Amino acid sequence: MATVTRTIGLSLGADICWPICYEQILAKLDLAIPWQGDTVTVATERVTIEPFDLRQPCKYDVVLDRLTHWYHTSREWIKKAILMDGLYVLNNPWSVQANEKHTSYCAMMALGMPIPPTWMVPPKDYEPLPDLQPTLRRYAKLFDLRSIGKDLGYPLFMKPYDGGGWRAVSRCADEAALKARYEESGKSVMHLQAAVHPFDSFVRCIGLGPQTYLVKYDPDAALHDRYTQAKDFVPDDQAQLLRDTTLTINAFFGWDFNSCEALRKDGQWYPIDFANPCPDSQVTSLHRHFPWLVKANLRWSIFCAVTKRPMRKNLDWAPFYAIAADADRPYRDKLTAYAALARERFEADRFEEFCATHLGHLDEVAWEFFGTETAKGAVRAKVAALFPKHEVEPFTELFWNRIQAWRSESARG
Ligand SMILES: Nc1ncnc2c1ncn2[C@@H]1O[C@H](COP(=O)(O)OP(=O)(O)OP(=O)(O)O)[C@@H](O)[C@H]1O
Ligand SMILES: [Mg+2]
Repeated sequence: MATVTRTIGLSLGADICWPICYEQILAKLDLAIPWQGDTVTVATERVTIEPFDLRQPCKYDVVLDRLTHWYHTSREWIKKAILMDGLYVLNNPWSVQANEKHTSYCAMMALGMPIPPTWMVPPKDYEPLPDLQPTLRRYAKLFDLRSIGKDLGYPLFMKPYDGGGWRAVSRCADEAALKARYEESGKSVMHLQAAVHPFDSFVRCIGLGPQTYLVKYDPDAALHDRYTQAKDFVPDDQAQLLRDTTLTINAFFGWDFNSCEALRKDGQWYPIDFANPCPDSQVTSLHRHFPWLVKANLRWSIFCAVTKRPMRKNLDWAPFYAIAADADRPYRDKLTAYAALARERFEADRFEEFCATHLGHLDEVAWEFFGTETAKGAVRAKVAALFPKHEVEPFTELFWNRIQAWRSESARG
């Protein structure tokens, strides 16, 4: 019986708070997991950016990646390590690269999800590439934006087909606003989407492996209050629908870590944004929900590392389409079947058993940690990176107090 170490790499950019908490709690867990004849310990390290030989080995078993969507050296190193060294990474870099919001809408519409009516329109302006003029002259049809507006009704949303971070999203109340926003939209390829209006509830469901977590969201609040502190805001059956929706999307696209925004109107939940494969993980947004995220991240990454979970290199959409093809089956039934497939792909039962057997002390260790000065220092460091100097202390206290409220309400272990 040998002692072996699994190493989890953190591939980071601007993240400050969660990696500190992740590293600290992992160390305090002091893992020595009996696994298939060995004793497995788990270490973590921050991944550095440097030249690499395509044939060099990779020392990581799992990488938690926060760079793939914009930093190409890291993305390509990760791809090499998956293909050549058996690395497991959150999230699948090919899927992050290829499947933007538009694809995610189309695929989930094909599975029967109630995505609001959505059009794509050619951009207002273009890069002046040599073939542009002949292409447009020959094939670009003049179109009437007003008729699309009429078809969708007002208000509607104009937003980039590959959106993220609320960039260039506008709400158009009428035809004049639609025309004005389109004139300003430049080279962005835009969706026009019917607003879910009026909606009576807005939820973000975060998925991390087979784990899901619902937060009531307020898009009109200040940034630090958008993830609200509301509790019991959806009945159980609707919560299950939102969880099943998120797991389906995440398993379909190979995104272990993703979040799904859905709005409710007349009792129906409409998913509107669920291609977020690098979800907000900052304490300055998540505050009292932040400990859940850190713990969920630890559980899933430890499970993947210890069990050497193989990376699914092929997304394999056919089984989802096979369920969708049954014309007589109601959508809710299909969603249950998609979610069952998702749980299988995320090895949910094995994961839950693993956590019960080997990570039984995580809740208590994390609970203790989130009462320490080190944890508070992590919060302060993130706040200091984002807020003006005179707001650092008050906002550190605000977020800290919300975490303490979570501690006083949750069981110690
Ligand atoms: N169809 C819609 N109906 C109602 N509100 C919408 C709709 N589409 C977008 N919104 C609003 O606009 C916000 C931004 O849109 P969306 O989430 O699609 O863009 P994003 O840039 O991907 O945002 P994020 O920052 O969440 O990644 C949503 O959080 C929501 O408040
Ligand atoms: Mg969004």
